[in-house]
Amino acid sequence: MSALLHVERLDAGYGARAILEQVSIDVAAGEIVTVVGHNGAGKSTLLRAIFNLIPFRAGVIELDGRDLLPFSPERLLETGIAYVPQGRSVFPRLTVAENLRLGGYVVTDASLLEARIARVETLFPVLTERSTQLAGTLSGGEQRMLEIARALLVEPKLVMLDEPSIGLAPRLVDAVFDTVRLLRERGIAVLMVEQNVRKALAASDRGYVMELGQIRLADRAGALSDDPRVARLYLGKR
Ligand SMILES: Nc1ncnc2c1ncn2[C@@H]1O[C@H](COP(=O)(O)OP(=O)(O)OP(=O)(O)O)[C@@H](O)[C@H]1O
Ligand SMILES: [Mg+2]
Repeated sequence: MSALLHVERLDAGYGARAILEQVSIDVAAGEIVTVVGHNGAGKSTLLRAIFNLIPFRAGVIELDGRDLLPFSPERLLETGIAYVPQGRSVFPRLTVAENLRLGGYVVTDASLLEARIARVETLFPVLTERSTQLAGTLSGGEQRMLEIARALLVEPKLVMLDEPSIGLAPRLVDAVFDTVRLLRERGIAVLMVEQNVRKALAASDRGYVMELGQIRLADRAGALSDDPRVARLYLGKR
């Protein structure tokens, strides 16, 4: 498989504290890949390390064969990787439209930005309806949609989502994973980390299980869901 994102033997941590150990993952173009694992396993650290947001990283990180290790987060955005961090990241006192426009700050051509906002709004009609509403007054699910919509304004090849379903009611969880599938239909690859193991794997092509900063299992998403070890550890079966 020729990977869009290729991560090989990645070590990463905060100062002297090593968290990730020899992590290797691949994401093909237009593929949905999920990393599951318990609290503190290092899932967020993995996405932060790829996006160059933590002090120590060593190993290989490539997009389309291009070495990403020296790239700043802004340069990574321009190269085609968007990142939606864990927890709410909308600006609550700005409107939906203002939040969207801020997401396109690296798009310097104003008419191009307007065209992209219009295109993203066709994907998320609810955001168009609420464009003048303050983002902080949107429901949790709508805020998540806004975060994902904002990430799309750079027309990324790969979107990294950190726990997109966390804190959402079941109906909204399904809507978020439907959105993830929609991205794949548009040819956008998704790397997400999730604790909602069953639903995340059901929406994914492939998955990895991370424990204590290491990849323990890697397989097709369906095979992982059926794996008795995954069922025992993550799906509450005995
Ligand atoms: N800024 C930091 N400085 C030092 N240690 C950190 C920092 N951020 C995270 N860690 C540690 O790194 C380890 C992995 O954390 P990380 O946030 O990547 O886990 P996670 O798998 O995303 O967990 P969760 O499911 O709770 O979000 C944890 O032991 C955590 O305490
Ligand atoms: Mg996390």
